[in-house]
Amino acid sequence: MNGNESLAVVILAAGLGKRMKSGLPKVLHEICGLPLIGYVLEASRELKAGETTVVVGNGADEVRAAAGEGPRFALQEEQKGTGHAVMVALEEMGPSFTEVLVLPGDAPLVRTETLGMLIEARRRGAVASLLSAELDEPAGYGRIIRGADGNVRAIVEEADATEEQRAITEVNSCTYVFDRTALEEGLKRLGNDNAQGEYYLTDVISAFAEKGLPVAAVGGGAEEVSGVNDRIQLAATAAAMRKRINDSLMERGVTLVDPAATYVDYGVRVGAGTVLMPMVFLSGDTRIGEACAVGPCTSIKDSTVDEGAQVRFSVLDGCSIGKEADVGPFSRLRPGTVLGEGSKAGSFVEMKETTVGRGSKVPHLSYVGDTTIGEQANVGAGSITCNYDGEKKHRTTIGDRAFIGSDTMLVAPVNVGNDASTGAGSVITEDVPDGSLAIERTRQKNVPGWKGGGKGKRRARE
Ligand code: UD1
Ligand code: CA
Repeated sequence: MNGNESLAVVILAAGLGKRMKSGLPKVLHEICGLPLIGYVLEASRELKAGETTVVVGNGADEVRAAAGEGPRFALQEEQKGTGHAVMVALEEMGPSFTEVLVLPGDAPLVRTETLGMLIEARRRGAVASLLSAELDEPAGYGRIIRGADGNVRAIVEEADATEEQRAITEVNSCTYVFDRTALEEGLKRLGNDNAQGEYYLTDVISAFAEKGLPVAAVGGGAEEVSGVNDRIQLAATAAAMRKRINDSLMERGVTLVDPAATYVDYGVRVGAGTVLMPMVFLSGDTRIGEACAVGPCTSIKDSTVDEGAQVRFSVLDGCSIGKEADVGPFSRLRPGTVLGEGSKAGSFVEMKETTVGRGSKVPHLSYVGDTTIGEQANVGAGSITCNYDGEKKHRTTIGDRAFIGSDTMLVAPVNVGNDASTGAGSVITEDVPDGSLAIERTRQKNVPGWKGGGKGKRRARE
């Protein structure tokens, strides 16, 4: 979209959100991994407006930090209502902007296209345009009052509405585009003589209508106007956002076996041909390649999984999983785990700060930490790197084609060479040269006649 240099965006985000019953400012509550205000910023960013101002108040520093580098901020020290919040924003606004888009910071489902329609509607000769919607349950929202001619005559807040007005199902979304001069005039005349003692932005619209100035109403989907005021609405909004994300994945060729039980955060990328089984959680900076199989019951955070890899019943954080690697069931891969192409971290395996070379396998019951494993090596069942001496962490290296016998304890720092082996049950404290076998265990003693009579038993004890 072009031609919006004359437009200034104002995002209202100073309220506390009492009904959330939370110390966290309302706009910082997250759905699908992003705070509410993040979605509003994203939706407006694509309009390429001349500037964006976020009105902050409650938790101002936290909200500033979450909003990041892009926008400017206006501080509303006391929250005297949505009209007052816009006054505060206008005080700091550059003179070149002739139109103002106002958005609530607590309605994350609004779409860029809808905002574009709102801008166009106002440009067709109205002093203001507003986004409204028909809701089955309009409780809590301001109601749109229309005159006999069908034009918007006023907006009445629920707290100030008569019984008759409350029966109206068309609601206000708190999303508007204003002609700047008209907005400034309207705000000058704004009073706070209402049930909440606040300066209502909605009264500016009512005043325009009273003067016969044209106000355009654009009808949006119920979903787009829904604001988050309490935790029930937070959950409902999260479900709607999740459906949007899941639908877009499916449109791009990802199979979701049960979309209602698939939790993919905003910004996560998944390649075509990949199958996400139920109870998959993908979060943070995560990218899944094409033709992967993920889940069931798997959580992957801040990780990349390359083409054709499989991850089942596992928990991954900060990992890089190579092409066609095989993870799980029941692996826990912690930050710094790098699995090479075709490698394996199998059942009940924990890893951290570990690189596993191409084709190497750690199939069962192992802890591997601070380790570099070469290519085509095998780490037997129950093997453990003893990387922590109580004070410091130490590294282990395992060479190409090495064979670590089952139940080997590798006491770090220690190196096992290329083509080297360790005997099962060994406690390895010294480096193993290339091609050597290291065995560290006492010889087996067989006691004959143990079951047959008392003599053997007694001798063995002596
Ligand atoms: C507002 C509208 C209502 C609409 C609803 C849609 C008014 C008077 N009412 O009501 O018609 O149906 O949104 O969700 O505008 N804020 C500030 N400073 C303030 C007060 C609010 O920045 O002094 C911010 C809040 O942080 C929030 C947004 O403005 O992001 C909306 O405020 P909120 O208190 O949620 O308004 P509603 O009662 O929902
Ligand atoms: Ca609200």
